[in-house]
Amino acid sequence: MLNRPNPGSKWLEKNVRNPQTIRLTVCVSLPDGRLCTDVREGDASVSEMSDMPENETPENEMPENETPEDEMPEKKMAMLDWDAMYRAGTPPWDAGCPSREFMSVIESVPIRPCTTLELGCGSGANAVYLARRRFEVTAVDGSPLALERARLRAEQSNALLRFVLADVFDFGRHAGRFEFVYDVGFYHFVRQNELGRFLDLLWWVTQPGSYYLTLAGSTGETNEGGPPQVSEEEIRDELGRLFEVVQIRPFRFESPRRADGYLGWSCLMRRPTIGNSTASA
Ligand SMILES: C[S@@+](CC[C@H](N)C(=O)[O-])C[C@H]1O[C@@H](n2cnc3c(N)ncnc32)[C@H](O)[C@@H]1O
Repeated sequence: MLNRPNPGSKWLEKNVRNPQTIRLTVCVSLPDGRLCTDVREGDASVSEMSDMPENETPENEMPENETPEDEMPEKKMAMLDWDAMYRAGTPPWDAGCPSREFMSVIESVPIRPCTTLELGCGSGANAVYLARRRFEVTAVDGSPLALERARLRAEQSNALLRFVLADVFDFGRHAGRFEFVYDVGFYHFVRQNELGRFLDLLWWVTQPGSYYLTLAGSTGETNEGGPPQVSEEEIRDELGRLFEVVQIRPFRFESPRRADGYLGWSCLMRRPTIGNSTASA
């Protein structure tokens, strides 16, 4: 199992998917005691791997004998924060029904029922919708209350699917590959602090030919209380490191908080297969 780094530690690694770049990760201790890692990427040709001090750990291997990741207080806190938002009632992202844009993509793009993984499924409306369309769905969330609501929804809808209460990063390492992976509102916040880790996760859970769909908050309007915002350029730059864009278009997130919802990007991508590029946008 990977362990967490110590505050103050930093390490360099080659980006295995793009050998022209290197990645510098710095672990800092926040004033409230939590640990935070900051990842920067740069041109490998202007840096020397030999600059790395001896006490640093290469290739992102954490030192042995550290506290296991899932026992770290900051991770438990992060999970509790999400759960607290569900305990407080209906969180602002939970419209209580499948996303219209999500259904529109599934119905208009030829993704046939297949092995499917949802990252951060919340109370499960989208996962249940897919399961009822015969997709073989595994839906993961770290909030016990969100999953309780999701299981109840599945039961009431007679939908058969697999729910997993776990941190998606832990789950993804051993979950195998899926033909379709999606998230509604997960990429747009996780990219802010853990983009590298998220790309690694997507790499583990997909294979050449797999589809990945994200619905993410969009720049372009003031959205106080709304989702984190990301631009089309950032999406193409970040997710384009692994996937080809099949389609990207604006839409509006439904929200119990605002009648006209929030501006978002709907981005469907595909892992390239050698000699069979499918991108059209
Ligand atoms: C913005 S909500 C979106 C929920 C759902 N997709 C929806 O549209 O209603 C993000 C979800 O990700 C879950 N989450 C956040 N970090 C997680 C992690 N590391 N592992 C598993 N779930 C996580 C939260 O509990 C929350 O349910």
